[in-house]
Amino acid sequence: MSSRSIEIDAESAPQKGTGAAIQDGQDAQNGAEPIIAANGVHKTYAGAGEPVHALRGVTLSVARGEMVTIMGPSGCGKTTLLNCLSGLETIEQGEIFVEGRSIHDMPDNERTDHRARRMGFVFQFYNLLPVLSAVENVELPLLLAGLGQREARERSMDALEQVGLRDWSGHRPAQLSGGQRQRVTIARALVNDPAIVWGDEPTGDLDSTNANQIMELLEELNERNQQTFVIVTHDENIGRRANRTIHMRDGLIEGETIHRQLGS
Ligand SMILES: Nc1ncnc2c1ncn2[C@@H]1O[C@H](COP(=O)(O)OP(=O)(O)OP(=O)(O)O)[C@@H](O)[C@H]1O
Ligand SMILES: [Mg+2]
Repeated sequence: MSSRSIEIDAESAPQKGTGAAIQDGQDAQNGAEPIIAANGVHKTYAGAGEPVHALRGVTLSVARGEMVTIMGPSGCGKTTLLNCLSGLETIEQGEIFVEGRSIHDMPDNERTDHRARRMGFVFQFYNLLPVLSAVENVELPLLLAGLGQREARERSMDALEQVGLRDWSGHRPAQLSGGQRQRVTIARALVNDPAIVWGDEPTGDLDSTNANQIMELLEELNERNQQTFVIVTHDENIGRRANRTIHMRDGLIEGETIHRQLGS
């Protein structure tokens, strides 16, 4: 179980793996400075029965501007890993650096603030408020962060434009298709111009046509805005569209597949 494998897609050049990446402070992709670096991360959930070791020593790094997918069987720890990397959950062993800062050493309010300013989240179930229109859903985090109403509205309309939904800004979630709703979620994740966008099965609820369209949109945004994307998916077709896929099993990373060079 401790062996790690690295597979390379046929047309890609060989690259260093993530294990070495942490040791020499560089990333697997083009030797770029990592935006996310995790080292020996352990996470245990205490439940009614036996404790669950959801993460059992995860080490990885992600380069700025990289698009990474995380795949593995149900229950292997993908969501837990995402939540720990983004600081939503605490860890009991190991370290996680995001943009050079130890996320678990920050005071709670700083971590929350860091998340709000630097990160966006796209989850499988839309988490949109049904009584609000598309634009109101998108601008909500900005208003909560204290931005003026006018600027919040302008930025939210820009974000909806980026996902091709400017003309649907007045529609409530129930008046939108599944794919359109997920686009609103993406607009909301992007509205504060985050450095990192986390996606937990962002296409999990969509048919393959809509899933592909959403993935195309994420790729476009990744390229255009140089944002870093870390996306959990069960779908091989989605997985291989990233620069790299990290494979998890039983709370560990068991290998990775590099699909294309960062920046190519
Ligand atoms: N809040 C929690 N309390 C107790 N156990 C939990 C909690 N969250 C996750 N777990 C357990 O931790 C393990 C990893 O769960 P996690 O949700 O990370 O898996 P996953 O890979 O995302 O699975 P899926 O593909 O089904 O979403 C599982 O055994 C799960 O039951
Ligand atoms: Mg999950």
